[in-house]
Amino acid sequence: MAEALPKASIRDTLAVATEVFLPTVAKGVILRRPKVVAMAERLQLDGRAVRCLQRLRHRYGEGPLMLRVPGRSQAIVLSPEHAQRVLDETPDPFASASTEKQAALAHFQPHGVLVTNGAVRAERRRVNEAVLETECPRHRFADRFAAVVREEVAELVGRAQRALTWELYTQSWFRVVRRVVLGAAARDDTVLTEMLARLRGDANWAFLHPRRRRLRERFIERLTAHVRRAEPESLAGLVASYPASPDADLIGQMPQWLFAFDAAGIASFRALAVLSTHPHSAEGAQAEIQRSSGASAPLLPFLRACVLESVRLWPTTPMILRQTLAETQWNGARMPKDTGVLIYVPFFHRDDTRLPFAHRFAPEQWMGGAATERSALIPFSAGPAVCAGQQLVLLLTSLMLASLLRDRELRLESPTRLNALRPLPATLNNFSLRFSIRDRTPAFVRSHSPSAA
Ligand code: HEM
Repeated sequence: MAEALPKASIRDTLAVATEVFLPTVAKGVILRRPKVVAMAERLQLDGRAVRCLQRLRHRYGEGPLMLRVPGRSQAIVLSPEHAQRVLDETPDPFASASTEKQAALAHFQPHGVLVTNGAVRAERRRVNEAVLETECPRHRFADRFAAVVREEVAELVGRAQRALTWELYTQSWFRVVRRVVLGAAARDDTVLTEMLARLRGDANWAFLHPRRRRLRERFIERLTAHVRRAEPESLAGLVASYPASPDADLIGQMPQWLFAFDAAGIASFRALAVLSTHPHSAEGAQAEIQRSSGASAPLLPFLRACVLESVRLWPTTPMILRQTLAETQWNGARMPKDTGVLIYVPFFHRDDTRLPFAHRFAPEQWMGGAATERSALIPFSAGPAVCAGQQLVLLLTSLMLASLLRDRELRLESPTRLNALRPLPATLNNFSLRFSIRDRTPAFVRSHSPSAA
């Protein structure tokens, strides 16, 4: 007879529900809720979630652990090897389009590749890969994108004389995003971003919130108008000329790009906070920025690693969900078809029983290849459904950091709980970070530079 997978007691299932699942959902899976994030930070809820799963692994072994959820078969992954297997064997038998994810994303992108199963998935994935250039660290429009970042940062620094706050940062970041994705004429289309934010707010509630069809239609009409313009050197320009069948729903792929860049803004703002409190890494960043001066869109491996480390420490996609399309075997034990499989990413990223650097900033590991997928450091997921935008995110965020830090120093003014000598907090509220900006260039050089003339 086949062995059974370990099954959590009702009490332990409730612990997963209250310590892992609910806090993550309450923070807002699709659009973060600032008040809940602030509370989660006060209570360091991500740390509690990690400790809860460490306890369960100690009690039940490596799993996957079946939870006692009424009316459904639900598992949680507890070993890095199993996490890797689930991601490697996506989309079959581990379908990416789980019921909950479909319910959430149906509010604004029912045809996004992330929520597509079956034959059409391959074509939608190809479209995403072709336009985002998934395999390429330097997008073909990198020079243009770098110029956009430089212009927006120059403007941002002008506005952030008193303090660089999340509000100012995210305004500039979304200008960059709209210019990159839709072209220069979309720079100030904040209405589009706000429409998407309202739909994302609904998506946080998945099936519990009625869909606003009219709002979604108006959003898609507005987006389509930008794509029709087909501005050169924008992603929309590539979409407009991409040969695809109507099933691919090219424009239906784009809400994911616009929405997921929010996470990239959060990740880069947190990277700034860590850099401004970790002098050794800050020196490394400055050295790289100096070395790269003169190149229009340099690769900046260290700054990329800093962003990767930011999403390792504080994953912006904390829950990766899958659903089994067939029965699966786990060392002789069977998991039934139609089981929901949860990979809670912070558990693998902050598991201090396995990772000596769990709670400190260790960007170097991303440069030498030590942060292999084997150890389940998966901020951008892995396998065939790995984030299609990872390289573009790293390109734009590293350029953003370089532009901000070139000849400048950012000091974290509030809150000041980050410290290179202490373990980093499990939850970090990006909304409350505030920096002062100081010029690094000595006064003598400034007064003799040609631009000062
Ligand atoms: C810090 C920023 C980002 C992070 C950490 C991130 C992370 C992830 C993760 C973990 C997944 C897998 C989700 C799952 O399987 O449930 C994913 C999927 C995806 N991401 Fe990202 N992402 C980011 C930004 C972006 C951006 C800006 C784009 C597009 C411009 C993008 C495009 C995609 C696409 C198309 C998928 C679906 C891939 C598929 O199902 O085949 N992401 N991302």
